[in-house]
Amino acid sequence: MNVGIDAISFYSSNYFIDLKTLGEVRGVDPDKYYVGIGQEKMAIPPPDEDIVTMGASAAQAIVQREGKDRIEMLLFATESGIDQSKAAGVFVHGLLQLPARCRTVELKEACYSGTAALQLAAAWVQAHPASRVLVVAADVARYELGSPGEPTQGCGAVAMLVTAHPRILALDPEVGLYTEDVMDFWRPNYRDQALVDGKYSTRVYLQALQACWQQYREQSGRDLADIHRFCYHLPFTRMAEKAHERLLKSSGASATDEQQKQQMGGTLDYNKRTGNSYAASLYVGLTCLLDTSAEDLAGKRIGLFSYGSGCVAEYFSGVVQPGYQARLFADQHRTMLEQRTELTYRQYEDIYNLVFPTDGGRHTFSRYRTGPFRLAGVNQHKRLYEAAT
Ligand code: CAA
Repeated sequence: MNVGIDAISFYSSNYFIDLKTLGEVRGVDPDKYYVGIGQEKMAIPPPDEDIVTMGASAAQAIVQREGKDRIEMLLFATESGIDQSKAAGVFVHGLLQLPARCRTVELKEACYSGTAALQLAAAWVQAHPASRVLVVAADVARYELGSPGEPTQGCGAVAMLVTAHPRILALDPEVGLYTEDVMDFWRPNYRDQALVDGKYSTRVYLQALQACWQQYREQSGRDLADIHRFCYHLPFTRMAEKAHERLLKSSGASATDEQQKQQMGGTLDYNKRTGNSYAASLYVGLTCLLDTSAEDLAGKRIGLFSYGSGCVAEYFSGVVQPGYQARLFADQHRTMLEQRTELTYRQYEDIYNLVFPTDGGRHTFSRYRTGPFRLAGVNQHKRLYEAAT
């Protein structure tokens, strides 16, 4: 029985700053950002947007179309947790009014947790084919102002419905796995910005890719030629290009720049415009590929590489299902990205420097343009969410 992704929906903030603007203020040639790291814009969450509102907004499109029936598990993957105890998914469960008969938890392993959620969901559905699982991956990437990581910030969420007989992507059972205890990127509980050994993190990413690919190849008997398109975790899009170059080189394959671009074609555009969304970012790339490919991908195999600092990584694949185009939310995604509001540098820094109130009092947050849900405020240390309209 095939199991995999039956619906996939993406959401990102309605606000962004252009990296040309950031370059002007930082005295950095914009080409360093546009070409050197391959990023153009960073999505910035306004004060009334967080992982819950973004995750619920991504998931709402699916729930409205597919119904709530038989959603027996909600897995929320994030490294931007808003509570040390309560799972962000429980807030999403409430906002979407999902059935009470549902197992809801939050998963964490840096940017890898979205893949952990997807694979756990698939295993559950294999054992319980009538059941459906909602996977939500959402993050806000935040580094210190002026640090090398700053231009790779961003935010976003992807929601996926995992079912038997999926109508978008049937997952292959073979996977390559890798765990190693390293300190390449981390965020202690008392910090709201990540710490990172940037260059080291890119080296570990590439090592993990090679180890995972090798295992995947041995397990599946497949080689590069069996994969039609390659999706990578996207901390910034140049990283994925470097990863693909490394994969080809280490496999002894030769490909022109044009062929390499084609093999990754269509996976990068959304990320260039939103920035890193950690746990969601691989799936932002997959959504982008499916939404924007001019070619019919039905029957084609997609390879996916998931990397979470710390680190855990996985190579896996899936086959695109016939008629998948009718299942996408491509128009909504395009409209969302086109209708965003550009921030000035000052507005970006003001939002960045806002401090979340921790005094236990009642605070009401200004109304910005969000998706269907917003964070209205906080009272007695309880976050107050509401429908945005
Ligand atoms: N025009 C064109 N290119 C230019 C340029 C210009 N004017 N100026 C510089 N460049 C190029 C450089 O040559 C370099 O290219 P190569 O990598 O091909 O050599 C590129 O721009 C980057 O410049 P630097 O080498 O000077 O690197 P940096 O100091 O800006 O830092 C970084 C880059 C380390 C990745 C930094 O952005 C960072 O720390 N990012 C956060 C960590 C990260 O994303 N790590 C990725 C792996 S970990 C992971 O994947 C998990 C996760 O999501 C965080």
